[in-house]
Formats: sequence, structure tokens, C-alpha cells
Amino acid sequence: MLIRKPAAIASSEITPEDVYHGRREFIAAGALGFTGLALPHSARAGLQDADEITPENIVTQYNNFYEFGTDKSDPATYAHEMTTDPWSVTVSGEANKTGTFAFEDIIKGLDVEERIYRFRCVEAWSMVVPWMGIPLSNILSQFEPTGNAKVVEFETLYRPSEMRGQQGFFSSIDWPYIEGLRMDEANHPLTLMVTGLYGKDLPNQNGAPWRLMVPWKYGFKSIKSIVSIRFTEREPINTWKQLQASEYGFYANVNPAVSHPRWSQASERRLPSSLFNANRRPTLPFNGYADEVAGLYAGMDLRKYY
Ligand code: MTE
Repeated sequence: MLIRKPAAIASSEITPEDVYHGRREFIAAGALGFTGLALPHSARAGLQDADEITPENIVTQYNNFYEFGTDKSDPATYAHEMTTDPWSVTVSGEANKTGTFAFEDIIKGLDVEERIYRFRCVEAWSMVVPWMGIPLSNILSQFEPTGNAKVVEFETLYRPSEMRGQQGFFSSIDWPYIEGLRMDEANHPLTLMVTGLYGKDLPNQNGAPWRLMVPWKYGFKSIKSIVSIRFTEREPINTWKQLQASEYGFYANVNPAVSHPRWSQASERRLPSSLFNANRRPTLPFNGYADEVAGLYAGMDLRKYY
């Protein structure tokens, strides 16, 4: 993983797009001093030699965003129909500062960092993506959650007129899309609120104007296009748990030892993959971030809390 703080990046140094296209040297150079930043040891622990950055066109054209349809190509085709400016966010529940805020006001003055994280979908494919974002803890702290806040719950925009997957009889999802994190997970330094990709603004299909990124959890926890943040005492029933509780839990920590009821989670297809080269590799506990996050779950039975 690479962290770049904007203050340390001269505009002349902004990485040209072609550098992102699967070049191992970039990760090595970045992690070991491309930015001249001293990185904490833990900041690089997730990436391995074989982790090359996934080409941008895959990350922006092979998506899950059911609000625009169930096909992987639907979000790239239809997400431009969503208006993201203006964008307001409602903050409610167990916090001293609640209300409705303009997105720009919430992120104003907060540093955006670039972090290269592995991203593992529950469907057993994975990518390595240069995300741009703000540590979630820096966003949440400004609302001053109270001692009663044990969990933070997020909701996606509900706007069927601009989100065709929310229309009609065939949608089995009870919108809006909902996700949640325990407060200690939300405040973990790896947890990012993403506002961009590959050095650019976040495309609509990837969850503009902001979406969550929790690198040690399956991708469905990383809720997109967030309009509501609620601090609560109890975990919500997240969308995928509501759809199929036997298959998707609240925690969704990447765990090669616990199979999905319909397929193994022991390995993954790293995109790009093809008929001739599946590009398959073993899945790592907590997606390779165990050193940083396993302690959050000490003493918990991860087969029960999946
Ligand atoms: N957020 C919303 N609102 N709706 C969705 O359908 N899909 C999730 C997650 N966040 C989803 C969502 C799933 S299943 C995955 S794998 C990731 O988004 C995909 O993110 P990406 O398209 O940026 O790769």
C-alpha cells in the first residue's frame, strides 16, 4: 500500500496515467520512496511483489452497482444519468453535530491521500487499485460521535428517476443500499472514504462523489454514492445480509477458510483474467491486511461472525 499526502506532491510529479498500467516498478518505487515520504511499516504490508496495478479501464468498466443494473457493464453505461452536484449528506443519530451538510463542506480542509489497496469481491475476483481518499476517521470525528455510537451506518442515494436499477418490479433489493461498520473498524487507519481513482475524480460508476473502501473486507461492504451517515448503538441489517443472510454477513472479512455456500473463497481471479489465463492466486486472510486488522476481531469466532 502506498500513501501519498497531497501536500507532498508537486503538480509536476503527478503520476501520468500510463504509469498505472500494471507496472510493478511503480509500486516498488512508490512504496520505497517515490514520494519521499517515510511510510509506517504497516502501510506497505498489504501488497506483495505479484500485485500489479489493475488497468484503469477494468476498474471503471467492470462494476457492481446494482442501482444501475445487474450486469457488470451496466454501471459504466448508465451511471452518468446520476446527478452528483449538488450532493448533500444527512448525519444523524448518536453524535453532537447532526444535520444535512453539503458534501464539499464535509470534506473541506481534509487531506486526500492516494492509497494502493487490493480489492477482493465476494464473487472471487480481485483488483489492485490506486484509490484517492480521506481516512474515514477524519470525516467522522468532525461530527463528534457520542459514547453511545457503537456502529456507523451508511445509505446510498435513492433516486429511481436517475438510477434505472431502482425502478420496476424485477428489482429484488429493498432500496436504499445500506452498509455499516463497527466504530473501531470505521476508525481504523486503513479505512478510507474514497473520492477519486488513478489521480482523478471518482467516476459515477465507482460511487461518485464518495464511497467507502475497507480493504480487508469483501467489496460489498464498500458502499457507493453515500447520502446518509448514522451513528447507532446496534448494527443495521445491511443490504446483502437482508437479501441472503446465509451467504452474506455483517462482518464480511475476507477469509479463505470460510467458503461462500455456493463457491470456495480459497482463491481469486486477479483481473485482468481470461479463458487462457485465469490469473488465479490464493486469497489471503483479511485480504493480506491481517497484521493490521486481525486484532479487531480477537476472540471472535469468524465462522459465526462472517
Ligand atoms: N454500493 C451500492 N450502493 N450498490 C452496489 O450495488 N456493490 C458493492 C459495492 N458497493 C454496490 C455498492 C459490490 S458487490 C462491490 S464488489 C463493489 O461495490 C464494487 O465496486 P467497484 O465497482 O468500484 O469495483
